[in-house]
Amino acid sequence: MSIVDSPNSPHNAVASSATPSAMVRLIGITKRFPARRDGKAIEALSGIDLEVQAGSVLGVIGRSGAGKSTLIRLVNGLETPSSGQLIVDGVDVARLSERKLRDVRRNIGMVFQHFNLLSSRTVFDNIALPLEISGAPKHSIREQVERLIALVGLEDKRDRYPAELSGGQKQRVGIARALATNPKVLLSDEATSALDPETTQSILSLLSTINRELGVTILLITHEMSVIRAIAQDMAVLDGGRIVEQGNVFDVFTRPQHPTTRAFLAAETGRALPPFVASHLHHEPAPGFETVVRIIFRGPFATHPILSQISRELGIDVNILGGTIDAIGERPFGVMIVGIPGTPDIVAKVIEFLTTRDLDTEVLGYVASRDLV
Ligand SMILES: Nc1ncnc2c1ncn2[C@@H]1O[C@H](COP(=O)(O)OP(=O)(O)O)[C@@H](O)[C@H]1O
Ligand SMILES: [Mg+2]
Repeated sequence: MSIVDSPNSPHNAVASSATPSAMVRLIGITKRFPARRDGKAIEALSGIDLEVQAGSVLGVIGRSGAGKSTLIRLVNGLETPSSGQLIVDGVDVARLSERKLRDVRRNIGMVFQHFNLLSSRTVFDNIALPLEISGAPKHSIREQVERLIALVGLEDKRDRYPAELSGGQKQRVGIARALATNPKVLLSDEATSALDPETTQSILSLLSTINRELGVTILLITHEMSVIRAIAQDMAVLDGGRIVEQGNVFDVFTRPQHPTTRAFLAAETGRALPPFVASHLHHEPAPGFETVVRIIFRGPFATHPILSQISRELGIDVNILGGTIDAIGERPFGVMIVGIPGTPDIVAKVIEFLTTRDLDTEVLGYVASRDLV
């Protein structure tokens, strides 16, 4: 069987009454690690509910120590949950024998931050390894590995050793190896974190191709919003072992609810305050100050009419301090930062005006009008 021209055969699947379209499902998963010398047990994950829809890409973002690797190691069967249920492709993994678990694992490919290649094996032999382990016949190994080498664009590196490859090329080998057994699910733990931005983009677009053209479901872990945005349709924010926010990527980017999500988004284009505003920002209002507000426009829009409407209908002139138009996938959105002069009730009127037109606003602080000239 080859990964390119045959769909994944359903194996080991049992009927799952709930949400048949979920390829990976975590229900109330908690993971505790036993106490170490200092005597404190660690709860790395607490009550995780998460679904990765079949054929989709879900990105999980979190800071260092949030529990990302633990989450992915659970899905991979490298850790077992302390409580909760894990269902992969309709199979309740926790109830499986070791032998059945091996079948499930074969259905899951894994890509690592530091590639984890064997330095004594060539590109070809690294990719062939999982097939050798599974006892596949030699001719079918050869055929499959050649196909995968072409898929990841390494035809000219076939007989090279890892030490002769760039980081991006090593990761291509890692991806090809992860796909060797035709998995339905690909797990990626910070696969682009050791790569420069340009190489990161090329690896993400390879993963996208694999998702679209081979229908492989991807669960990807990262600490960068830009990675999520480039590849995922759905996302979850992990903080201290809990999911604090999840949803469609466009919604989370344009309507973040949790402070951790907002902190991750702060560096995204258009959201950061222009330096001339940031350096004069106060936390409390005062006479002669303008209220600095971020406005998010979702979908097609025109910024100018809204601001001139405010001027015309409310008689308030709002100052534009910054802004960008951006898109996630095909969906445009805009971020504008404005200064609203006047008393708190004038500001409240403007915010109400914007809110009733379905625009999201966030007060960022206050700045003296004289500091803006
Ligand atoms: N095998 C382990 N034994 C004990 N504690 C662990 C183990 N693996 C992870 N942890 C702890 O669990 C928490 C989450 O770790 P991890 O999942 O690696 O986070 P991340 O990948 O988001 O940086 C951390 O506090 C970490 O120290
Ligand atoms: Mg980690």
